[in-house]
Amino acid sequence: MRILLLGKNGQLGWELQRSLLPLGEVIAVARDGQNFCGDLMNLKGLANTVKKIRPDVIVNAAAYTAVDQAENEADLARIINSDAPEVLAKEAKILDALLIHFSTDYVFDGQGDHAWLETDATNPLNVYGVTKLAGEQAIRNINCKHLIFRTSWVFSPRGNNFAKTMLRLAQERNSLTVIDDQYGAPTGAELLSDITAHAIRTVLQQSGLEGLYHVAAAGETSWYHYARFIVDSALKAGVNLKIKPDQIKSVPSEAFHVAAKRPKNSRLNTAKLEKAFNLKMPHWKTGVSRMLTEIIENKL
Ligand SMILES: NC(=O)c1ccc[n+]([C@@H]2O[C@H](COP(=O)([O-])OP(=O)(O)OC[C@H]3O[C@@H](n4cnc5c(N)ncnc54)[C@H](OP(=O)(O)O)[C@@H]3O)[C@@H](O)[C@H]2O)c1
Repeated sequence: MRILLLGKNGQLGWELQRSLLPLGEVIAVARDGQNFCGDLMNLKGLANTVKKIRPDVIVNAAAYTAVDQAENEADLARIINSDAPEVLAKEAKILDALLIHFSTDYVFDGQGDHAWLETDATNPLNVYGVTKLAGEQAIRNINCKHLIFRTSWVFSPRGNNFAKTMLRLAQERNSLTVIDDQYGAPTGAELLSDITAHAIRTVLQQSGLEGLYHVAAAGETSWYHYARFIVDSALKAGVNLKIKPDQIKSVPSEAFHVAAKRPKNSRLNTAKLEKAFNLKMPHWKTGVSRMLTEIIENKL
């Protein structure tokens, strides 16, 4: 089996380079790919890459993920998050290839406190969410064989994310203020990529499982409680920090002035995924603890 992986250097793309390997030949392409165009801004180049490689599976881990910046770069975000997935879907359809695409909890408006189902109405609050939803819809309209995984609060030891920022700030500052009214589940790129590989294998053996799935770790937390867990774990591991968990101050979203509005309820219901692929999602603390160990031991 030949797999084309786009966005190989992102949090998720990096982990997919590992998890896809046992499935077959992985051709991993970055934005500045040498032999093949991997730039999602170059729609013609992207189509040509698929035509040349003729993959059985296309995994798109590339995305415009700068949520606040997207408010001022809507055109750029739309091309990368919506037009490019549409091109991939068209090429996948021609080849009868399976397209794997990732989306986000930001397609929802965050009302209420239930865990969102795949069938719930979408209503994104910001440009990033609008463009990610448009990407999903483009793939569904073209109706190539596909899996779309909506996930939330992605972390990995690689790249920049909330956990690494909190660790750094707790080493630099005497006080820390964190939002306490947005809820979700931190989801490891490692977990997500392992599930992706498992799902690809399953879908290729058993038809009828294609479609949209929510993928997130079990349990829920707020950014504030997530920060406390990070600081507490780091202190227990002997890291020298300037603050203790109970010195972190909780504030509402409105206390931070950011360009893009965020949903307050990012809980994702994963029952459909667990049933279809015979999985049990691990608790978010398991993955975060592993990442912290890796960051702390390797001084990442
Ligand atoms: N991060 C989250 O909290 C989160 C939450 C929910 C859903 N998701 C979704 O999960 C998926 C993976 O996210 P992630 O956390 O791995 O994101 P990430 O770490 O920001 O990685 C995104 C990747 O996309 C690449 N990219 C951006 N513009 C590109 C372009 N024009 N051409 C080619 N590649 C381009 C980046 O390349 P460079 O390395 O060259 O910049 C980077 O490798 C995305 O679909 C995202 O929307 C993420």
